[in-house]
Amino acid sequence: MKKRLGILLSGRGSNFEAIADNIAAGRLEAEIAVVISNRPEARGLEIARQRGLTAVCIPSKGLDREVYDRMVVAELRQHQVDLVCLAGFMRLLSAYFVREYNLAILNIHPALLPSFPGLDGQHQALEHGVKVSGCTVHFVDEYLDHGPIIVQRAVPVLETDTVETLSARILAEEHQAYTDVIRIVLSGKWRLDGRRVVIEP
Ligand code: GRF
Repeated sequence: MKKRLGILLSGRGSNFEAIADNIAAGRLEAEIAVVISNRPEARGLEIARQRGLTAVCIPSKGLDREVYDRMVVAELRQHQVDLVCLAGFMRLLSAYFVREYNLAILNIHPALLPSFPGLDGQHQALEHGVKVSGCTVHFVDEYLDHGPIIVQRAVPVLETDTVETLSARILAEEHQAYTDVIRIVLSGKWRLDGRRVVIEP
């Protein structure tokens, strides 16, 4: 049976779209069981509906973190989700959520962690003056952009870069890296050695 993905997003949803495109093109063996947004206006929700996917808005405003996470986990369970993919989901997860989906929650970040966690990783990298940046796909724990790193992709930072041009170069890598990581994680051909994710050939 195909493994079932639950996508969590808050905005544009281009990483979600890339995953959906890769599934449709047969490059990833999985299915998207549900797309959940904490923001009703998220473009990603609209895209999901247009694609005929189950799209659910669970507004987070004013709710305690764990109360909210219990609602999200219930929705994920209802759709029998095996792997949770955060794709621009602008919230920290509670210890409860992380326990419920132990080593089964992924996130993508637009910088080479542990450098430049949090908001605007591309802007932070540019301001700091690094010559190389990129993206990181990692397992999620309850700390910000912190869990074990699965894959990183590097891109050069050019003298002429603006936040927009650097972000676009990183985003192109994100769109490939996320699918590659989902494939690896679903294959089960990896193990955790301390914080190190060891991918088996
Ligand atoms: C991406 O840059 C991702 O790395 C970060 O949030 C952004 C989401 O973009 N976590 P999109 O919604 O997938 O287009």
